[in-house]
Amino acid sequence: MNIHVENQVAQTSVKKIERIHKPTPEEFKQVTRSYTQPIIITEKIAEWKAFDLWSIDYLNSVVGNKEINVNVSKNKIFTFDPETEDTFPSTKMQFTDFTNWILNGRKSDQYYYLQQHPIESSFPELFPDIETPDYINKNLLMVSNLWMGTGGNTTPLHWDAAKNLLSQVRGRKRILLFEPKQTAFLYPFSVHSKTPHMSHVNIDKPDLDKFPKFQNAKSMECVLEPGEMLFIPAFWWHQVYSLDQINIAVNFWWQANLKDYLTPQAKQILIQRPKFFWAIILQRTNPYWKLIKDFVVRISNKKIV
Ligand code: FUM
Ligand code: FE
Repeated sequence: MNIHVENQVAQTSVKKIERIHKPTPEEFKQVTRSYTQPIIITEKIAEWKAFDLWSIDYLNSVVGNKEINVNVSKNKIFTFDPETEDTFPSTKMQFTDFTNWILNGRKSDQYYYLQQHPIESSFPELFPDIETPDYINKNLLMVSNLWMGTGGNTTPLHWDAAKNLLSQVRGRKRILLFEPKQTAFLYPFSVHSKTPHMSHVNIDKPDLDKFPKFQNAKSMECVLEPGEMLFIPAFWWHQVYSLDQINIAVNFWWQANLKDYLTPQAKQILIQRPKFFWAIILQRTNPYWKLIKDFVVRISNKKIV
């Protein structure tokens, strides 16, 4: 099968991320070379109710009274000190106070980002407005998350042990990607730290005395437009910049292929820290954990948590 892919955005980095218009699941598998290459899918989420419905007014009317937990940052980079913590600093606020801040009060000494909230459990009212794309094997779906914030917010360089479809509903995001082979240039935190999935390098202002190999790193870049989805293969490094005043995205994480665990960073964790590796595999949201659990229950007739 020959599939036409086109690139519509001027790229500034070494390699372009191609765009494809609503591929079938088979075409998706082919153009991503079995889920190992990034691709942008156009217009697929124009079919979602969310695409028409999710204005700030609509969201305020449906979930405005909810108390939400938003992450906070003094410099718009949403992270934590990986040496001492493994959770983001956050604060509770009413949803309408958050949207008012986005609309009116963005200049402050404290910035907010609603990051990675499981939609089905945290915002069940909004769940019917999205559709899990048919590129995802539903048995392997781990979670779908809501991301909401404003231009300038940055999620710093990291990888996730899952396949990811980042789906842009409002506003745009600029994304830099580095394939797993680039790990040698990206100075990950130690495999023994709390955050072996994060990079030491501030890629916007790299300290080349400390991280000289970073200058050899080759990235891919795109600007994701509303209505588009970016497929980020498992274990690919990514840094995400929110653009525009109102930025709303949904991302779907689903289980990595077993061969993805042979990428350099996963292999290093497997060899040097096998317990942590199993913790990734056995995380509660991981469908492999459910399969193992069901199997143990079947053979032992005992319930396990
Ligand atoms: O800010 C972001 O949208 C980050 C997404 C991700 O890390 O998957
Ligand atoms: Fe991520």
